[in-house]
This record gives sequence, structure tokens and C-alpha cells, in this order.
Amino acid sequence: MTKKLLLELARKHGTPLVVVDHDLLRQGYASFRRHLPKVQAYYAVKANPAPEILRTLYQAGASFDVASLAEFLLVHTLIEHLPDKERQDYIWDKIIYANPIKPRETLMALNQYKPLITFDNSEELRKIKRYAPAAGLVLRLRVPNTGSMVELSSKFGCDTGEAVDLILEAFRIGLEVEGLSFHVGSQCTNFDNFVQALNISAAVMTRQAVQRAGQEDQLRDRPAVPEGHRDPGRAGPVPGGEHRHLDLTCHR
Ligand SMILES: Cc1ncc(COP(=O)(O)O)c(C=O)c1O
Repeated sequence: MTKKLLLELARKHGTPLVVVDHDLLRQGYASFRRHLPKVQAYYAVKANPAPEILRTLYQAGASFDVASLAEFLLVHTLIEHLPDKERQDYIWDKIIYANPIKPRETLMALNQYKPLITFDNSEELRKIKRYAPAAGLVLRLRVPNTGSMVELSSKFGCDTGEAVDLILEAFRIGLEVEGLSFHVGSQCTNFDNFVQALNISAAVMTRQAVQRAGQEDQLRDRPAVPEGHRDPGRAGPVPGGEHRHLDLTCHR
């Protein structure tokens, strides 16, 4: 954006004036993709929910991290025009409801969209089972936030020691945990936080797989697909009792 254009805008609209350069948004997203080609980048809608910004990032191919029903519906307006299957695939693949604590009304409203949602405690799990049983689950882990400007682990994320029990509890009540999430803290410049978070996640995945194998043997005859749940194209319970737990293989 040139200085001349900024001056013109200031004259036209008066000051103070916030100008968002959408070329920079596109460049930022492209740069992320270029440097981390195997990583799916989710734009946290809470950063700025302006519909124009969401549209630009949607057109650039971004995924979205939403933290409220209102944010989810804002993203949903971008995909309303898609045919049913494409819209559902988009919700599964490209939206995560990443706030681990959700009012029951929100869960009830979200259920019809079968979204991917996070949780970090047993009470939330039971709420999800009751009010949004068609959702896919992601367990949020508490990881070191050392040096970050805002330490989010002080309020979100389960302890590493609880993680496997929560995954097994979900399994016992007929829900599937499809992945893990963590936040290294807002404005984190400490690379080690990422390394530790990935090591913690790997340890949880290994441990749950071992314990889960034992439980599956005991529960082999139990129906695997909750009523109204997703189709076999998605990781999670599939007909015939075949499970693909915490299958984080990147299929994109
Ligand atoms: C799941 C999740 N995503 C994104 C954010 C935004 O984080 P940041 O401030 O690092 O952009 C938060 C902050 O609470 C969060 O919990």
C-alpha cells in the first residue's frame, strides 16, 4: 500500500483510521505455507473477525480456529453456498472449535454441524456426550508456556498425567478423540516450548495406543458408531468396529 493511497484514504475517511492491506494478508498466509508446507494453518478468528478478512483468508485456502458460536457462524457464512457434502467436508477439515469450555446451548447449536471441538476435562466430555454427540474431539494438553507474553496454560489444557485417562474415558462413553491440541502461549518466542509440546503429545499418543489396545480387546463386541455420527471418510469410529484412534496422518 503506497503512502499516496494512505493519505487519500485519510482525507476521505478522516483520522484515526485503521487500514487493512489484504495483499499483506495474502502474502502472510502464502509465506506461512511456503515455509511450513506440511502444516495446515488455522486463522484464529478472535484475532480479527472482520468478514472481509475472513473472506480473503478463505479464498487463500486458510483454515479457521473459532472460539465461540458466533465465530463459527461467521466462518459458516463463507461456506453456505457449497453443496452439502463439500460444506461438511470443509467443516471437518478446516474448522476447529478450539475453546475447551463451551456452554451447553453452544454445544446443542453446534451438534448439527458435526464440528471438531476441543475439551480438557471430564465434565466437558460428559457435556459433549449429552449435547453434541456428533462432534469430533480433540484433547487440549497443558504444555510449557515459558516466556510467552500470555500464559494460556494457566487456564486451558489437561495435565499430561490425565490425558490418557481422558481419551479412554471418551472411548468408554462412545466418543472419539481424533487428535491433540496445545497452545505454547500467546506471542511465544521460545522455540523450546514447541519442542516440549510435541514431545508431550508424542508420549500421550504412544501411551494411549498401548492402553487402548487392551481396552479394545475387552470391548470388541460393542457398537462403534454413535447415532448420527460421521461417515467412514473421517478418522474416528467407523462401521464394523474398526478404530483409527488419534490417526494424525496428514491426508491433505
Ligand atoms: C486455541 C487458541 N487459538 C488461538 C488463540 C490465540 O492465540 P494468539 O494470541 O497466540 O494468537 C488462543 C488464545 O487463547 C487459543 O486458545
